[in-house]
Amino acid sequence: MRLILKPDGKAVALEAARIVADTISTILDVAIGLPTGRTPVGMYDELVRLHREARLDFSRVRIFTLDEYIGIPQNDPRSFYSYMWTRLLGRANVTPENIHLHSSTATQASCSQYEADIRAAGGIELLVAGVGRNGHIAFNEPGSPLDSRTRLVDLAQSTLEGMRDEFGDQEQPKQAVTIGIGTILEARRVLLLVAGESKKAALSGLIHGPIQACNPVSALRTHSNLTVIADPAAVDTA
Ligand code: GLP
Repeated sequence: MRLILKPDGKAVALEAARIVADTISTILDVAIGLPTGRTPVGMYDELVRLHREARLDFSRVRIFTLDEYIGIPQNDPRSFYSYMWTRLLGRANVTPENIHLHSSTATQASCSQYEADIRAAGGIELLVAGVGRNGHIAFNEPGSPLDSRTRLVDLAQSTLEGMRDEFGDQEQPKQAVTIGIGTILEARRVLLLVAGESKKAALSGLIHGPIQACNPVSALRTHSNLTVIADPAAVDTA
């Protein structure tokens, strides 16, 4: 594992953008896995800036997203579909056939198709992920099998509580579709972005703790090419 320490969340996102940009400009037809969440927002802004100002070309990049809420329509601003179109897909020259987004009406058959699409793209070269405060990666909640594949999952109570800010009094999705931990581990390189105090326990578990299903992010320690970019707030110095 390689740990890159950056001064704050903004610098974490910028470093991630630098690595993604370097990957897509050196490998033709590369497949990348991209996350949602607050942490990578600055990464997308920087990638769009590089597209506009430095002609970073997305036309042959194959994009796979990690997860999606079940039952939230595509055009709802809280869907990951909307997130990806607002943050990146609608702002860069991504080719429509190269975009692979999970459906909010996903079924086990569409999950298997998603895995087949990844294989058909030659496997994911670089998978960028964030981590939930409960240690989830994508929506692999605590207890997820470390060899899990793309599937429908129930969201953990701790995740639902964290979503209250976003959903307020409105009904929250209780399920999601997510790529599995096994799917993530098959990516040739994994880039994990961790910023903020609330991620400290999850990151500490990844670095020092046992590899166990109750902290899904800990599974990444078994990956042979993992880079973690973190800010000091997320790193446990005790
Ligand atoms: C979300 C997503 C994850 C994301 C995580 C962290 O629920 N399912 O893929 O990495 O939570 O989000 P944030 O960056 O907002 O803390």
